Amino acid sequence: QAPSVAIIGAGMSGLSAATRLQQAGLQVTLFDKSRGSGGRMSSKRTDLGTFDMGTQYFTARDPDFVAAVAQWRAEGWVAEWQPRLFRYDEQGLAASLDQQQRFVGSPRMTALSRGLLGNLPLHSSTRVEQLQRIDQQWQLRDSAGEQYGPFDRVIVAIPPAQALPLINDITALAAPAARSEMEPGWAVALGFSAPLELPYDAVFVRQGPLDWIARDASKPNRGSAETWVLQSTPSWAAAHLESEPHAVVAELVSAMQAVVGAPLPAPTFQHAHRWLYARPAALSDWGALAAPAQGVYLCGDWCLGGRLEAAWLSGQHAAKALLETA
Ligand code: NAI
Repeated sequence: QAPSVAIIGAGMSGLSAATRLQQAGLQVTLFDKSRGSGGRMSSKRTDLGTFDMGTQYFTARDPDFVAAVAQWRAEGWVAEWQPRLFRYDEQGLAASLDQQQRFVGSPRMTALSRGLLGNLPLHSSTRVEQLQRIDQQWQLRDSAGEQYGPFDRVIVAIPPAQALPLINDITALAAPAARSEMEPGWAVALGFSAPLELPYDAVFVRQGPLDWIARDASKPNRGSAETWVLQSTPSWAAAHLESEPHAVVAELVSAMQAVVGAPLPAPTFQHAHRWLYARPAALSDWGALAAPAQGVYLCGDWCLGGRLEAAWLSGQHAAKALLETA
């Protein structure tokens, strides 16, 4: 009989592993502490439309990932985004066009995670707190004391700091996870009552607290409202981890004003989101981490270099490693 698999974390790496294992005929069950799937592929729904608060776009370089993206485009889950790109540094603002293809979920980033999730079983709002080994299988316990399982295998597809308490006793996994740090980031959504009429859709910022500014409405199939998303640098977020959201909005709007070089109208909508684990602090090339004797696997962007493509590839690595012992 095909092994049953619990996957903790329904972000890109968990969904990637899940879809691969489902295709191989395995029974997978996903768990996520949040209300839905997608992880950092997140979109905030508002009266103005949606804002991509995490992943802003992604690129595809690995041939397997290129093929997956082509399939997602055919499904209508993703579309190409062709922003008018600028860069801002000590020299000021300048156009910074390139040949890179960039993709986004359509009509919002979470359309991709919804598509991948399909009809896979997901226990949402379920924070798994403990893995218990019972008779060569795994029993899961959540923060409400609920038990799930038993499962033959477990894939842990969450950031290393959150994975660690689950796999502390498995040295092959715990040691690298303990060494892997993630950096934080603040994201701010802004809505304006009229178009800002700027000559760019996105700016790579190399100066001050900001890292990235994008007109969300310039992405395919968004609404017509003037929506912008600002993302801070990791170091600014680390220094402002405990700041109040309204203070974060004020500082990042003023940083945006410095980039734009002119006063901005007052936003009619503003919202700040803190990502405690936005991106890996250092690059790794593990692919995924495996403890085959225990049947436990770790994956995530942090195992392979921080980009969305890395998260997908890491999930594929974990699934492949698991299938080798299935
Ligand atoms: P990419 O190839 O568009 O960009 C990679 C990096 O190169 C950009 O972040 C930027 O620094 C620079 N760059 C690219 N095109 C540029 C241009 N036309 N002008 C000026 N600079 C340009 O995308 P890729 O490789 O898929 O990476 C996505 C980016 O997302 C990465 O740079 C990564 O650091 C960032 N990221 C951000 C996270 C966050 O929390 N904010 C989390 C994970 C990744």
